Amino acid sequence: MINVTQPFLPAFETYEKYLKQIWQRKWLTNNGPLVQELEEKLKNYLGVKHLLYVNNGTIALQIAIKTLPENCEIITTPFSYVATSNSILWQGCKPIFADIKNTDFNIDPEKITALINENTSAILATHVYGNPCDVYAIEKIAREHSLRVIYDGAHAFGAELNGKQVLSFGDIATCSFHATKLFHTIEGGAIITNDDELAKKMTLFRQFGHVGDDYFSIGINGKGSEFHAAMGLCLLPMMKEFIEKRKGISQLYDQLLKGLPVQKPIAVNGTVYNYSYHPVIIDSEERLLRIQALLRKNNINTRRYFYPSLNNLPHYKGEICPTAESVSARALALPMYYDLEQADIKIICDLIKTCF
Ligand SMILES: Cc1ncc(COP(=O)(O)O)c(C=O)c1O
Repeated sequence: MINVTQPFLPAFETYEKYLKQIWQRKWLTNNGPLVQELEEKLKNYLGVKHLLYVNNGTIALQIAIKTLPENCEIITTPFSYVATSNSILWQGCKPIFADIKNTDFNIDPEKITALINENTSAILATHVYGNPCDVYAIEKIAREHSLRVIYDGAHAFGAELNGKQVLSFGDIATCSFHATKLFHTIEGGAIITNDDELAKKMTLFRQFGHVGDDYFSIGINGKGSEFHAAMGLCLLPMMKEFIEKRKGISQLYDQLLKGLPVQKPIAVNGTVYNYSYHPVIIDSEERLLRIQALLRKNNINTRRYFYPSLNNLPHYKGEICPTAESVSARALALPMYYDLEQADIKIICDLIKTCF
């Protein structure tokens, strides 16, 4: 069976070294030394001022959204994982969908301004597949209208834009370190900001609203454990290798699928990609379904990522977003993970070719 992703595990002895420390200290959670070490290392890696390690990427989004006024409107993308818009709704805010660009499939800044009104507090955009949004255009709109910018960077760890980490852009960026991600801590995530006040607020939100024995605000439990942080500490030194390995896989897919009418994301200038995913946009949904069924018959799993366009989910009465609807009907993520064999990529591509 070839799955669309497969978690990477470090050498057992590497993880075991951290387990021994945990056993000695009996400090399992509540901002333990491994969580603190991971936060420091992640901050250095990303070149950012504040980074809060949390227990998943969804709670990271929820905590970020909690810094906004209650019941506000948030302009967001319909082409993302459902956690993005569900977090907005979960926090009692209203997602307003702006359509995407047909190049990198990120939110189209030109579609944002018309949706702004007196209830709008923020733009929440996803760096789709790890390719950066048009961050400069989004920041300009946000400044003009006094809006906060939050990036869902669940896919963007390790990707760069003009020499900076993509996750360093925005008032707040969030990330997911789920087991299937390029870099993972089994479950986990991060909230990133360069703003001291926001960092202080979100630190309280992460730990029930209290520091020591004093209760200062409302809060939730977003803490990560020592066991999860340990996995991150094992994997962080391998980031360069992870990206290189995936780059090779991606290049082989491109070479073998050359000439077929499939579209790939075109990133904005200045992007250094992290190869989180290998998505292809097929020329029709009907062909996508045939490809997916044929691969499944051969024990190869792909994923319609993202499908459906979020504005079409029944719990939103969303705006019409023709580009997102068209792309999401035809987007297919092909298997992509560290241990994926070249021979398997060849089989996958040969099967795909028979569908054209
Ligand atoms: C774009 C996006 N946002 C948020 C999430 C949620 O992250 P987590 O699974 O860590 O809660 C994901 C997870 O895949 C995602 O792809």
